[in-house]
Amino acid sequence: MSEIEQLVAQATAEFSGIGDAAALEQAKARYLGKSGSVTELLKGLGKLAPEERKSAGAAINSAKERIEAALNARRDALRHAALEEQLKVEALDITLPGRGLPTGGLHPVTRTLERIEALFRSIGFDVADGPEIEDDFHNFTALNTPENHPARSMHDTFYLENAPGLLLRTHTSPIQVRYMETHKPPIRVIAPGRVYRVDSDATHSPMFHQVEGLWIDEDVSFADLKGVFTDFLRNFFEKPDLRTRFRPSFFPFTEPSAEIDMSCVFCDGNGCRVCSHTGWLEIAGSGMVHPNVLRHVGIDSEKYTGFAFGMGPDRLTMLRYGVNDLRLFFDGDLRFLSQFR
Ligand code: PHE
Repeated sequence: MSEIEQLVAQATAEFSGIGDAAALEQAKARYLGKSGSVTELLKGLGKLAPEERKSAGAAINSAKERIEAALNARRDALRHAALEEQLKVEALDITLPGRGLPTGGLHPVTRTLERIEALFRSIGFDVADGPEIEDDFHNFTALNTPENHPARSMHDTFYLENAPGLLLRTHTSPIQVRYMETHKPPIRVIAPGRVYRVDSDATHSPMFHQVEGLWIDEDVSFADLKGVFTDFLRNFFEKPDLRTRFRPSFFPFTEPSAEIDMSCVFCDGNGCRVCSHTGWLEIAGSGMVHPNVLRHVGIDSEKYTGFAFGMGPDRLTMLRYGVNDLRLFFDGDLRFLSQFR
């Protein structure tokens, strides 16, 4: 075999034994590079006699072409192998189930509010809304709350800077004042919403929720208050045997006034840790609407009477689901909230 044919055989054999692209390019340089074997042969052509040059040149060029062909074949083979390998590693299992989108859910307090609204709607109550930034008149004055009442002090109420007479409402009673300003008796309405007081510990939050209720008509009595509210609690907690008791109390906007207690929903009134072994839980404030309040909104207090109550849906939610720290409702921790989905 001539020297040239040997060179072609050698290059072809060497290329086919190489397994990675970089090593292949180095091998190429040894044959076809600036001082590669084939290039050296071409340079040597000048020293040959003119009659030999033509055939020798043709032989070298043919060898060069075949070496290049072997090189390209090997390049293709390596590229193909690399692609095969990549496809194997990155293979997708299209039979796996998808991850799906997580579903959201209602906040436990929202669920309670919706439940309360549904129960009162079912006995003919309207549901009213009002501003969280209130004026002094609707939050206090119209509710017969005198200038020197402690609820008006800076310790209890968030007043707005540079806005005299404006404050974050401390209860949802002002919603009822606004409702009475725009509706004539008979009035049956509940007023749910956020309220604000300067207060913060495991059972008090500076922002919390209230639902207040109002029924004004001819001949509405304290007995109606007892019936409506007791019935509501029995339905809310799904406890037909639940009992209530009314203790004398004071609110500027009701007379007489009463605190409402219900038999403990955990021990049915036998006494446990939740009710401090009394068998009773405080659940709402209530009373007969004070004539001064009716007068403020232009309702004839000789003709009409009414009752009002106010309760904390946050506390109702704690009791219904057995939650022991109010702050859990407002921390926004999904580990807690997702349990109510
Ligand atoms: N507005 C009272 C409060 O926030 C609750 C209440 C409402 C009491 C209606 C009596 C009647 O404390």
